[in-house]
Amino acid sequence: MAVVQLKDNVYWVGAIDWNDHDFHGYSTAPKGTTYNAYLVIDDKITLFDTVKEPFKMDLYHQIRSLVKLEDIDYIVANHMEPDHSGALPWIMEQVKPEKLFCSKMGKKALLELYHQNDWPYEVVGNKDSISLGNKTVKFLETRMVHWPDSMFSYIPEDKLLISQDAFGQNLASLERFDDEVDLNALMDETSFYYANIVLPYSPQVRKVFANLEKTGWDIDMIAPDHGIVWRSHVDKILKAYDQYSRQVTTNKAVIVYDTMWHSTEQMAKAIGEGLNDEGTTYKLMHLKAFHHSQVMGELADATAVICGSSTHNNGILPMVANFLTYMKGLRPVGRLGAAFGSFGWSGEAVKQITEYMESAKITMIGEGVRARNRPTHEDLAACRELGRSMSKAIKEQLAAHD
Ligand code: FEO
Repeated sequence: MAVVQLKDNVYWVGAIDWNDHDFHGYSTAPKGTTYNAYLVIDDKITLFDTVKEPFKMDLYHQIRSLVKLEDIDYIVANHMEPDHSGALPWIMEQVKPEKLFCSKMGKKALLELYHQNDWPYEVVGNKDSISLGNKTVKFLETRMVHWPDSMFSYIPEDKLLISQDAFGQNLASLERFDDEVDLNALMDETSFYYANIVLPYSPQVRKVFANLEKTGWDIDMIAPDHGIVWRSHVDKILKAYDQYSRQVTTNKAVIVYDTMWHSTEQMAKAIGEGLNDEGTTYKLMHLKAFHHSQVMGELADATAVICGSSTHNNGILPMVANFLTYMKGLRPVGRLGAAFGSFGWSGEAVKQITEYMESAKITMIGEGVRARNRPTHEDLAACRELGRSMSKAIKEQLAAHD
């Protein structure tokens, strides 16, 4: 992959990972991802972030097509997660930069990750700026969006915000800019990324927006550490993040389940019919067909999550437990929930799902529906009624927030 010019003397020098399938539990299949790094050529040649360690030679050859590694003066590390800092030890060894700029928490993270006390750390914060010659770099700490170390870099002369993970997507592509790809697909990927990575830190995103506004920075390009660079739709991505971070939902539910002998699945379908009766749209997602990160992608704009499991060994099925754990960690707020499931003789699953969802601060509607072995017509009628009740609760909640 060739380098791509973003601005005068600013280049994308990152790597494309076509085969990445898993980002600690978030399925990036089949889209893959990119690890974006940026090189600014000025009196002080500066590299912003690196790449995942196995891609260090990609980074090397990208940089080498522009300058020699030893010509780099500064490195700015905006985010320390190893998909961006993994190649840093090797790069530091080759470059021996004059300075390594990072946030206070960034230095702490680098020391803990790579145990290098003698790197030329230069801690920067919100009031700091550095001159590269013709260009300047300003910084904004973005703690917990999504790691404690995270920060933005801004080059005012180019109106360029280098935003680490924020505004990114896991999307391997030869195209580098938002006007070179299908915009709807790009927004879907961006929402999916937010729902699986940034969601738990939505309050911190609100704070970053407030701080960003105070800076008065004029931004006409946003270059994240993954995926596509925003240059034609900067306002759209900023508005989208504003919406995501407010967790704005719609008249939609997600029915997510696993089933042993299709009885719980029959119940899921009946719940869907009840939702549809009252005008609520829904997605029905069998966890053997959909990865848990796809379910979170659908839940991004859904007001309710209705979760079902057969009772298995006096508990819930493993894929349902896996999903519930993943969802709880991502801390969706303001959601309604319900539980359902079939059982042969003991029937604990509905109670266990209910308790877990309550512990995830989901407001449960009704007592849940259980059916012994094959659901009867009456059992399915109860499921349909659950769907109707949920639809009414969703509409009441949305009306209250209007
Ligand atoms: Fe792309 Fe938080 O690392």
